[in-house]
Amino acid sequence: MTTTTAETKTAAPLVRLTDAGKRYGNIIALTGITLEVSGSEVTCVLGDNGAGKSTLIKIIAGLHQHDEGSYEVEGEPVRFHSPREALNRGIATVYQDLAVVSLMPVWRNFFLGNELRRGPTMDLGRMRRTTKQELLDMGIDLRDVDQPIGTLSGGERQCVAIARAVHFGAKVLILDEPTAALGVKQAGVVLRYIVQAKERGIGVIFITHNPHHAYPVGDRFLLLNRGRSIGYFAKNEITLGELTGLMAGGAELEQLTHELQRVGAEDSELRHVAEVLEHEVAELGVGATPGSEQPGGRDETSQP
Ligand SMILES: Nc1ncnc2c1ncn2[C@@H]1O[C@H](COP(=O)(O)OP(=O)(O)OP(=O)(O)O)[C@@H](O)[C@H]1O
Ligand SMILES: [Mg+2]
Repeated sequence: MTTTTAETKTAAPLVRLTDAGKRYGNIIALTGITLEVSGSEVTCVLGDNGAGKSTLIKIIAGLHQHDEGSYEVEGEPVRFHSPREALNRGIATVYQDLAVVSLMPVWRNFFLGNELRRGPTMDLGRMRRTTKQELLDMGIDLRDVDQPIGTLSGGERQCVAIARAVHFGAKVLILDEPTAALGVKQAGVVLRYIVQAKERGIGVIFITHNPHHAYPVGDRFLLLNRGRSIGYFAKNEITLGELTGLMAGGAELEQLTHELQRVGAEDSELRHVAEVLEHEVAELGVGATPGSEQPGGRDETSQP
């Protein structure tokens, strides 16, 4: 019987949300969200500002609770009351504004809150060596783990945070827009470590609004728009073009182009932006047919 239970447990996804939802007072931040995260898989959550991405990960990470639907971890219904409870179940979160102490060495940040001791003193040597080795295992070759973490680039700091979560036994790793503030090259480095974490068996939840970052590393894609799912796809069910089109919300983008063109008649810089957008709409091959006007729906752009 024990074996059966164990088998059932392995078969259940690490994280499963079913029709989950969350309100803040009258505001429905999220509704009807179904999502499964398994080991060795990257699940990308995409959506524009206010789509509900942060709300979704806050539920999974134990910061907020769902008030609709269910949340299961390895097949067992849960309702976390703190991030610590989620962490105890192997669900680790790396936030965009990393909680690091800039002036402290890399190794010190790596072990912050989990310091190794030898008797009454801290085991500095072992912490240094372990940090160096863990980073190396993720393919990060830092010259000196004694350098203050503040001297690392944004991308490297994200990578240290990922390596740290992996070292301390994360089964599920939530990354909140880890590439948002990074240049192309740095973003590439972080994307590589996302793949490394996946290859080590971790279920990664990667929040981003950039389909070009999501597509190459993602196995599944959940698209959110105003708190609702507008699609949940496995990679073989969607192309990068389609993902980009859905994300951009072709019609909305075209509408914005029109708006900008109107205003841009008097402002050359805005006109340029409008031209760029027009080009993007054309490239996406989505939205209305060329030349067609977009009646109605204008009120949406006036929202804050
Ligand atoms: N604590 C809160 N109280 C009230 N409303 C909230 C709260 N947090 C979020 N919301 C609202 O819930 C909706 C979803 O917000 P959420 O932060 O989850 O979006 P997001 O996709 O993370 O956006 P962004 O890309 O801007 O980070 C928004 O309309 C937001 O204003
Ligand atoms: Mg957010």
